[in-house]
Amino acid sequence: MKGVSSILVAVAMLAFSAHAEPNYDVSNSAAGYKINGGVKHTKTGLEIPLAFNSRKSSGKNLFGNTVDDLVVTVDYETADRLHVKIADKDRKQYTVPDSELGLVRPNIKHAAHNPNYEFKYTNRPFGFQVIRKSDKAKLFDTTDFPLVFEDQYLEVSTALPEDASIYGLGETVAPFLRHRNVTTLWARDAATPFYENQYGSHPYYTEIRNGKAHGTFLLNSHGMDIFLTGDGRLTYKVIGGVLDFYFFVPKDNTPNGVLSSYTDLIGKPFMPALWMLGWHQCRWGYKNLDHVQRVIDGYKDADIPLETVWIDIDYMDRLKDFTFDPVNFPKDRMVALGKQLHRNKQRFVTMVDPAISTNTNYSTYTRGQELDIFLKNSDGSEFVGQVWPGYTAFPDWWHPNVTEFWGKEMSDFINLLDLDGVWIDMNEPSSFCTGSCGDGKRDENPAVPWALSDEEAATLRKGWLKELDARGTSVPGDKRNLLYPKYSINNGAGYLSEKTAPTTALHHGGVPHYDIHNLYGHAEGYVSREVMLKNRPDERVFLLTRSSFAGSGRNMGHWTGDNHSLWSYLKNSITEIFNLNMFGISYVGADVCGFNGNTTETLCTRWSELGAFYPFARNHNAANQTDQEPYLWKSTTEASRIALAIRYSLLPYYYTLFEESHRVGTGVWRPLVFEYPEDKYLTNDYQVLVGKDLLISPVVTENATKVDAQFPKGLWYDWYDYESVIHGETEKTLDAPLTHIPLHIRGGAILPLKTPKYSVQETYETPYSLLIALDENSQAEGRLYIDDGHSLKQEATSDISFSFKDGKLQAKGTFGYKAAEKLEIIKVIGKEFSKATYNGHKLDVSKKDGALVLSDVGIELTGAFNIQFA
Ligand code: GLC
Repeated sequence: MKGVSSILVAVAMLAFSAHAEPNYDVSNSAAGYKINGGVKHTKTGLEIPLAFNSRKSSGKNLFGNTVDDLVVTVDYETADRLHVKIADKDRKQYTVPDSELGLVRPNIKHAAHNPNYEFKYTNRPFGFQVIRKSDKAKLFDTTDFPLVFEDQYLEVSTALPEDASIYGLGETVAPFLRHRNVTTLWARDAATPFYENQYGSHPYYTEIRNGKAHGTFLLNSHGMDIFLTGDGRLTYKVIGGVLDFYFFVPKDNTPNGVLSSYTDLIGKPFMPALWMLGWHQCRWGYKNLDHVQRVIDGYKDADIPLETVWIDIDYMDRLKDFTFDPVNFPKDRMVALGKQLHRNKQRFVTMVDPAISTNTNYSTYTRGQELDIFLKNSDGSEFVGQVWPGYTAFPDWWHPNVTEFWGKEMSDFINLLDLDGVWIDMNEPSSFCTGSCGDGKRDENPAVPWALSDEEAATLRKGWLKELDARGTSVPGDKRNLLYPKYSINNGAGYLSEKTAPTTALHHGGVPHYDIHNLYGHAEGYVSREVMLKNRPDERVFLLTRSSFAGSGRNMGHWTGDNHSLWSYLKNSITEIFNLNMFGISYVGADVCGFNGNTTETLCTRWSELGAFYPFARNHNAANQTDQEPYLWKSTTEASRIALAIRYSLLPYYYTLFEESHRVGTGVWRPLVFEYPEDKYLTNDYQVLVGKDLLISPVVTENATKVDAQFPKGLWYDWYDYESVIHGETEKTLDAPLTHIPLHIRGGAILPLKTPKYSVQETYETPYSLLIALDENSQAEGRLYIDDGHSLKQEATSDISFSFKDGKLQAKGTFGYKAAEKLEIIKVIGKEFSKATYNGHKLDVSKKDGALVLSDVGIELTGAFNIQFA
């Protein structure tokens, strides 16, 4: 029977904390809830009515108004996914929309048969446990802690092993393995300070316990603090909504299995077009189009591949979206640049910010006004904030007319420049003042705040705060204090409305920004993708977003924002990319060579050689920092050429991995512990597995020329010198002179490769080759996915699996993609053979650089084949 009640008593005595400084002392004396009436068995699970335990008054109205009556809905959704939702009976609390602007929930009709978990609950006070059946581990256990459910404060805790290995909870800059800390989720434009809230909100974690993994997701768009107290407890403190939990317990207990299960719920990462996997160059602060051209030429002259040229806000006329600086980035020359790039098989992406200048002579703005799509103040007037172009209005992505508005602006612009993609930034949303700061002065083009003296900025801020307060702390029909909720999350910016839209601003239908702040960028991404798809229905969409929420990876890629040209940020980019992959955003990268601050040659060289392997690989720099294009230094040029040649040769492997990610949800970059969930890899946060077959061991510290690397069981072949084989379950110090990044191929892998050329297209025009790295049993396996590389829907694809056993290479699978694709070279490493036959013909066998090589095999990849080696 499901839902066995066991009696456990909650003992929890200490006090709450409203804090400026995070307070790890999270125990408290709330009275909790008791079961109030019959527990109902439904088709999908249980329904448990709860009432506040009113005999104890101590825990009432702690940081808001206690909600007396709750309903716990338990749905055994699939064998590996359990849904436990604790909501107010009256359904007044805000819930994440069940739509693409929030998260589309699956429609579950029946409880899963024989799930991998059990659900148990206690009474007086109510608590629950999620137990993994296979080893009886209590994965989530609230029974020793109080449940608090108020309109503006929800608290729930789970017991954890003291040394729990928790990964995820972001977006924030923190070590990969999360220990004692608080993670605050409140989307924020902040230049990546360690341990603080920043651009995206992902209330999700994976825990690895005794080699087994599970995942926990709290679907809630409100601001929250998540405390890891380090003493066996994880506590959520949330300032609104409901406690909507999903638990992921896959049968295989692997971290990859958890990720696959999580992305079954939130959606699989989008499938990038092939060109997106090439190298990207960007900077804020290109002075004019001649400057951009010099960069394009600089790359070509240095023979460093450049796939995509990006232009930041610099192209805009006084920083207004969809306009052109008539002197430095004139429209006709921008159009010509697009054409030139395409002629040279290169790509073109520009920035578009959500905030729209309120200048009344600006047609984008007046069209938005006519369609009434801008965010409102609580009195119904237009909310005016401040971003790059000065005073700005903000599109409300929930407004029914917004698609018409955004669709026209985006399509006209994309079509004019023939853009390959759009970069959507500042969508936390970022606003430089606090509250509604532009009333009555909307046509002005003010100096940006940081151009003011500290004193002037402080005076301005005081004024903004006053004005914000004057509008009231709530909105009509809502009793909550939306500006200054009693429980103050540990927002690095201070008040919730600092540097963003005020929490009292109103979205369509009267929804206060307070409730959906964390969804703003996510929703912009969905709307942008929709309008881009309408414009070019057959093409895969390229969108890069700064703000994200659970599920954003379905629609967009992400970069980790305004990092710094510091070694610590080079190292931490690895953790961030692991995390984002874990959040279902596999197309992700960090600004190579660092954004803020001046880089150095060695930092840029090390960063370029690692960045060449990022799932999304782009050099990007802030305005007023010294130039950092890779051709500017000898060592950076050399390292970039070497590493990018490897990346381009690996494009079929990367593309196949992205297809797997899109279909299954697994990451493109993986920490060792995700493939080998053993204690010794729990803290390894700098070695990277690309898929499961390629291990990168980068240098991430200044002046180092060696790397201490871990090698899991099996054989690991040096990418550059196949004869150096490492027998796994070992640690090795690897040589890594400045322009060399150590790479190893897993014995047992078959990697599909191409010959690297200047562009992705030219690379893909070369025939395929296979690199077969044999394991201890002289066996190997691999996969190759082929389609046309850019269409959204494919008529026919090829999905080829290769295996090598008993000296026989076998290729099987589907071979639908009929455009001529040839396999020309096969290399085998790990065993000597002297003969190879294909279709009764002898193939030429030679030995080169430690590999057995078959050249010119000329096999069309249109059907199954075998090659026998002897
Ligand atoms: C933000 C972005 C950064 C961009 C800049 C100017 O800081 O994060 O990437 O260059 O705005 O648009």
